[in-house]
Amino acid sequence: AEVIIVKSQDEAGALVGASIADLIAANPRAVLGLATGSTPIVVYNHLASQVKERNIDVSQVQGFALDEYAGLPVEHPESYRSVITRTVVEPVGLTPDLVHVPNGDLSTIATAGRDYDAAIAAAGGVDVQILGIGTDGHIGFNEPGSSLASGTRIKTLTEQTRLDNARFFNSLDEVPTHCITQGIGTILKARHLVLLAFGENKADAVAQSIEGPVSAMCPASAMQLHPHATFVIDEAAASKLK
Ligand code: F6R
Repeated sequence: AEVIIVKSQDEAGALVGASIADLIAANPRAVLGLATGSTPIVVYNHLASQVKERNIDVSQVQGFALDEYAGLPVEHPESYRSVITRTVVEPVGLTPDLVHVPNGDLSTIATAGRDYDAAIAAAGGVDVQILGIGTDGHIGFNEPGSSLASGTRIKTLTEQTRLDNARFFNSLDEVPTHCITQGIGTILKARHLVLLAFGENKADAVAQSIEGPVSAMCPASAMQLHPHATFVIDEAAASKLK
């Protein structure tokens, strides 16, 4: 993998935001893989300002989010549909109908995963997939133990991930117990993977992903199998690399 160590989150956001802006300028029908969470916000902010400054046409850009809670109404402010709308679609000015989020509706969840993977394939595949990483090495909601070949499917959230995400809800009880997430196999099909990580609490997961064995016990280690994977990390997140 290519490892880029930056001085600040803002530097990471500027770097990745500009490279995505370049991609869209060169290919107005680019397909972006979008992550939620706190980490990629700087990327979306820089992308939004690049798009405005350089007057880039983003009307035909397609987006595919990584994951969604299962059984949480899409209108809920913490559904990943709502989060992607607020943090990416609106600031960057993407066309809402071209930005897809897995469907967490329980009535259709059995087939929603296959449908989502088919929609990604029909769009021609993802050009660049933005990723964050969990402290346990998860990508998307693929927790340790997830098959490295997995497609989009329903998963059970670990207690740790529910605790980590409880800050967005009024209480732990309100945090959904299940999700629908792109699989590791789905993520690996993107043509370029860009994982961002900031802070010391990500250092172990980053070291395991880059220097540890390829293992389902650290889902992000699957990036070692990808021909074009980039880690953009700050010094704290890089602190456990050899
Ligand atoms: C987001 C996602 C998660 C997060 C990860 C890190 O769609 O699927 O894998 O990327 O939990 O979250 P933050 O960035 O909030 O530390």
